[in-house]
Amino acid sequence: MFLKEITFRNFRNYDSLNLQFSEKISLVTGENAQGKTNILEGIYFLSTAKSHRTNRDDELIQQGKHWFYIKGRIQSRLSSNSVEITNTCGEKKRIRINGKTQDKISSIIGKINVVMFSPEDLSLVKGAPSERRRFLDILISRISPSYLYALQEYNSSLRQRNELLKNIRDKKAKADSLESWDILLAKSGSEIIKQRLAVVSELSEIAREKHSQLTSDQEDFHIEYQTQFDFNSDSRIEDIYRENLDSSIDSDLRRGSTSTGPHRDDLMFSVDCVDARRYCSQGQQRTSVLSLKMADLELMARKLNDYPIVLLDDVTSELDENRASFLFDLLNQTPVQAFLTATNLEGISSKFPNSQLFAVENGVVKKR
Ligand SMILES: Nc1ncnc2c1ncn2[C@@H]1O[C@H](COP(=O)(O)OP(=O)(O)OP(=O)(O)O)[C@@H](O)[C@H]1O
Ligand SMILES: [Mg+2]
Repeated sequence: MFLKEITFRNFRNYDSLNLQFSEKISLVTGENAQGKTNILEGIYFLSTAKSHRTNRDDELIQQGKHWFYIKGRIQSRLSSNSVEITNTCGEKKRIRINGKTQDKISSIIGKINVVMFSPEDLSLVKGAPSERRRFLDILISRISPSYLYALQEYNSSLRQRNELLKNIRDKKAKADSLESWDILLAKSGSEIIKQRLAVVSELSEIAREKHSQLTSDQEDFHIEYQTQFDFNSDSRIEDIYRENLDSSIDSDLRRGSTSTGPHRDDLMFSVDCVDARRYCSQGQQRTSVLSLKMADLELMARKLNDYPIVLLDDVTSELDENRASFLFDLLNQTPVQAFLTATNLEGISSKFPNSQLFAVENGVVKKR
């Protein structure tokens, strides 16, 4: 797919911006703090309704203003779509797809697919499990609508079960009212686990291959889905799930929350069989996220038969020459649209002779 056009109003340091893009490579250049990353952040926001660097949407509103608006027009293999987001200070975000207002923010998932490589990526290895679950949830939701559905059912059942646990503990509800939520939770929860297991196994395979190429066959990279449940090959996940809910009921009641399930699971990255988070060097961790992101890209392309858009923020300052050039070769060899930011284009523009160049200065962009 490719992004034809973006429009920003009151977004970060952009009063008003409208840019049109070619189907291949766009290079965004400028001094520090001029607004390069802000452009990629806006594109990422159109893809997930979230920023890659903050959870607070209101930070993205230009200082002194009360709202921002962003729009993207996209051409995918099957259709062309427009996505619009308005965020007004203190209100819920509003989303329109092809001009139609959406009830659910999640309906944005899959409309504009992007894979971003940025300095923040390292937190996928080093950060909290919730970041890794979010990575996985976005990836699988894009390729499988039934996953997104199960995830929404699960989150809603989990909220209501937790509410009920507190009420039972405080003697405001009866214990036997839990069963109906347990049935729903086990149904959607086991669907989530099944799909996560299948996707992680495929993702790990691709990432392993990329990692091996990146390290000239020196390192063996592996991704494993870590769940509290003990599944043997022919067991039914849903039954085991119910048994786990039953056996942890006493502690769940005490805490007033559900202690087992996919909302507690994690991904484990390992290099040569050791936990990358604990034992790997910063360089190895960087290579691991790079392998992971390239696998993300490849897997989406395989499943959807269409490449996502690639966003590369400041990669030349993050990656050494070998790894950067591996990534650049991938962009040149695959039919992807990519956006690269850099303060200095030396070593980049020669790699992409037919790219479009955008110069950013203090929230104003000039096409060169
Ligand atoms: N809500 C906001 N309102 C106005 N300006 C903002 C807002 N948020 C960030 N900025 C400004 O945007 C600029 C930073 O933009 P950005 O992160 O895109 O820089 P950059 O060009 O990527 O720089 P670097 O090369 O250092 O990464 C800063 O000058 C910052 O003050
Ligand atoms: Mg930046």
